[in-house]
Amino acid sequence: MADESQKWVLMVTAQTPTNIAVIKYWGKRDENLILAINDSISVTLDPAHLCTTTTVAVSPAFNQDRMWLNGKEISLSGGRYQNCLREIRARANDVEDKKKGVKIAKKDWENLHVHVASYNNFPTAAGLASSAAGFACLVYSLAKLMNVQEDNGRLSAIARQGSGSACRSLYGGFVKWVMGKEENGSDSIAVPLVDEKHWDELVIIIAVVCSRQKETSSTSGMRETVETSALIEHRAKEVVPKRIIQMEEAIQKRDFATFTHLTCADSNQFHAVCLDTSPPIFYMNDTSHRIISCVEKWNRSEGTPQVAYTFDAGPNAVLIARNRTYAALLLQRLLFHFPPNSETDLNSYVIGDKSLMEDIG
Ligand code: DP6
Repeated sequence: MADESQKWVLMVTAQTPTNIAVIKYWGKRDENLILAINDSISVTLDPAHLCTTTTVAVSPAFNQDRMWLNGKEISLSGGRYQNCLREIRARANDVEDKKKGVKIAKKDWENLHVHVASYNNFPTAAGLASSAAGFACLVYSLAKLMNVQEDNGRLSAIARQGSGSACRSLYGGFVKWVMGKEENGSDSIAVPLVDEKHWDELVIIIAVVCSRQKETSSTSGMRETVETSALIEHRAKEVVPKRIIQMEEAIQKRDFATFTHLTCADSNQFHAVCLDTSPPIFYMNDTSHRIISCVEKWNRSEGTPQVAYTFDAGPNAVLIARNRTYAALLLQRLLFHFPPNSETDLNSYVIGDKSLMEDIG
């Protein structure tokens, strides 16, 4: 006979957007804790377009922790998942659901298992920073389920142990990941710079150049760069610290020209250190290079920059337009230079502002 006390399930669902770095994180000083060799700054995308939705459930009927990603079961045995689960469990508190007549004491969490179901509303295979939204959402939803009383800064330090870039997805707007100095990573957290309303005329368009999964993961790519590149130390110690200060100022002042200059230069330098890695890592392809040339030429012809570009560990372009007018013009240009069904067509566009499609017809 089924044991009545085993029948309850408590659930929490949360949604977390992904983020795109404008000053990139590339290189770790501690692989296990995921501590970066430089600060980074990102912009969090609109959750309506690129986000992860995660439901976490706990029940005495569950006999092991399990997780499904886009409906397919994945293993939770990896160190990154284990680190996040352990850190959240260690901070769990009493939970009571009066309607269900369920009471979980702080000490009981040690013996309870969770089931996790996570979905991305964007193609996971397209390499659009899915781990950032995924780990941020996992940590946030588990923290809610287990009544963890930490603020988002402390939660960001836990999400960081899942994937470095995930720590920045705990906040909207522009966010800085402070690399920190402590060996235990306690000061390596995300801090919000400005919220999403501060610079809301910006429009972000992602041009999906190739939806194949990248050949070199960010994790192994940055490890190889740190081990073999002569340029990475110069970047981390000399270049990025100055850029972080300038970028923070540009964001505060909504200075689009400086913002564009820094964003493009940092993306290009990140890909330069990838090329300086042995063996070299090629994340961008010919189409990515053509998009860069197209934007550079256009910005020069306008006299003042109207669109910034940045590329993560893959060929897809993240384009940030000054406003809706330039976003619409940008889409027209992209369609002209990369016509559908041609050899170099772009697979699709993911747009931060849906109504824009209506604007351009
Ligand atoms: C190029 O955060 O995916 O997108 O910490 O090993 O999980 P791990 O790496 P990840 O690296 C992101 C690299 C990047 C730049 C950035 O987001 O800052």
